[in-house]
Amino acid sequence: MKVLIIGGGGREHALAWKLSQSPRVKKLHAAPGNAGIAQVSECRPVSAEDLPGLLALAKELKADLTVVGPDNPLAMGLVDLLQQHGFRAFGPSASAARFESSKVFAKEFMARHGIPTAKFGSFADSGEAQKFAQTIHGPCVVKADGLALGKGVIICQSPRDSALAISQMMDKKVFGAAGERVIIEEFMQGEEASIHALLDGKTYKLFPSSQDNKRVGDNDTGPNTGGMGTISPVPMVSSALMQTVEEKILKPFLRGCAADGLEYRGLLYPGLMLTREGPKVLEFNARFGDPETQVLMMRLESDLIDALEAVVDGRLADTTLKFRREAAVCVVMSSGGYPGDYAKGKPIRGLDDAAKLPDAQVFHAGTRRSGNDIVTAGGRVLGVTALGADLRAARERAYDAVARISFDGAHCRKDIGGRALRFMESNPGSECKA
Ligand code: AMP
Ligand code: GLY
Repeated sequence: MKVLIIGGGGREHALAWKLSQSPRVKKLHAAPGNAGIAQVSECRPVSAEDLPGLLALAKELKADLTVVGPDNPLAMGLVDLLQQHGFRAFGPSASAARFESSKVFAKEFMARHGIPTAKFGSFADSGEAQKFAQTIHGPCVVKADGLALGKGVIICQSPRDSALAISQMMDKKVFGAAGERVIIEEFMQGEEASIHALLDGKTYKLFPSSQDNKRVGDNDTGPNTGGMGTISPVPMVSSALMQTVEEKILKPFLRGCAADGLEYRGLLYPGLMLTREGPKVLEFNARFGDPETQVLMMRLESDLIDALEAVVDGRLADTTLKFRREAAVCVVMSSGGYPGDYAKGKPIRGLDDAAKLPDAQVFHAGTRRSGNDIVTAGGRVLGVTALGADLRAARERAYDAVARISFDGAHCRKDIGGRALRFMESNPGSECKA
C-alpha cells in the first residue's frame, strides 16, 4: 500500500522509519519531511498546514493511508477533509482533537467524567480570572485554552505572577485567540510520565511508558522546550501504576466519549503527573509525542501499519502490539540558543559514523540537504536514539552515538535517563519491563 506521512520532525522520521520496514508498505511519501525522512520516503514540499495542498497530494499519490503527525493539522480538520474525499487517514477528527486544542474542553470533560486532574477554574472574562487567582496562595498554573506552540503554560509562584500571566494572555492577547479563555489550576508536584494509547472509538491498546525531559538544561534547568530527550520504560511507572492509569484514566475516557457522543480514533497521549494521591492528567495530546515516538518506535516489534489500520477500521480489539524487552533512550541534539533564537544551515558531521553503531538510530528533526551536506534547519536537530539490554546500556549507546556527531553550536542534555537510574539504584527491583 501507499502511505503518506504528514509532518517533518523527529516524530515523523521515527514513524516513517518504522513504516518503511513493513513488507506491506510498498511506497512511502512525506509532506514536507526532512533530510532523514528522505532516506526512507519520497518527500514533497507541501506544508503540514496547507490542507488543500495535502488533499491534492493524497489525490495525486492515490494514498491508501495518510498518517498525520502534528497537532495543528489535526485541529484544523485535515482528517475530516481527507475522509470527506474518500481517503483513509490516521488521527482524530477536529472535534476529537479538541482534547488537545482546547484545554477548557479537556478539563471540563475530565471533571464531568471523574478523571483525576489538578483542581481548576476556567474563565472567559479576565476580571473573573484575576479575582480567582488572588484567592490562591502558593504556586498555581495559568494556561491558555488553545494551541500556543507549547508556550501557553505559565507556572506562577505568587498572585503577582498570575495577575501578569492572565493580563498577558487575556488583555494583551500574546497568544491571540488561544488566550481568549484560560485555565487556572493547582500546581502539582511529582514525576511526569507520558502514556501513549491507540484508540479506535471502542477500545484501546497501550504502548510502554515513556518520559520526556522538557527543560533545556541539565537537572531540569532553563526554559521549556519541545522535549530534549526521552526514556522508555520509566522505572517510576510500575505495572500496578499502569493498571491504575487504565482504570482511572483510559476506561473513563472511553466511557466519557460514549456518554458525550464523541468518537476518538487515533493516538491519545495523556501527559501525567505522578502525585502522592496517584496519577493525574496534566494534559491530553491528540497525537504521538515528540521525542517519545523515537523511543517507542525503537521498542515496537510488531508492524506499525497493522496497528494504524486497525485504528482507522475500528478493529483494534483483534490487534496485538508487541514490544522488545530492551530499554530505549533518545538524546536530542539542538541548535545553540534553542528554544530562543538560533542559527540554521550548519553542516552536520559524523552521521555515517553514528549509524555504524548497532541498535542506534539517528532520527532527524530539523535538518535539510544542502548539496552534499546535511545541515541544521530547526531548533531540535536530531533525536539520537539507542536500544540496550537495560536503561543504563541504552543510555551509554545513545551518548556514544551523540559523541560521534557534531555541528556548530550543538547542545544536548547530558542527564537523559539519569534520574531514572538513580531511582532504580535506590529502589532495587523497580526495573519494570513496560
Ligand atoms: P501542559 O502543556 O499542560 O502539559 O503543560 C506543560 C508543562 O507544564 C507540563 O509538562 C508540566 O511540566 C508543567 N505543568 C502543567 N500543568 C502543571 C500543574 N498543574 N502542576 C505542575 N506543573 C504543571
Ligand atoms: N513530548 C512532548 C510533546 O510531544 O508534546
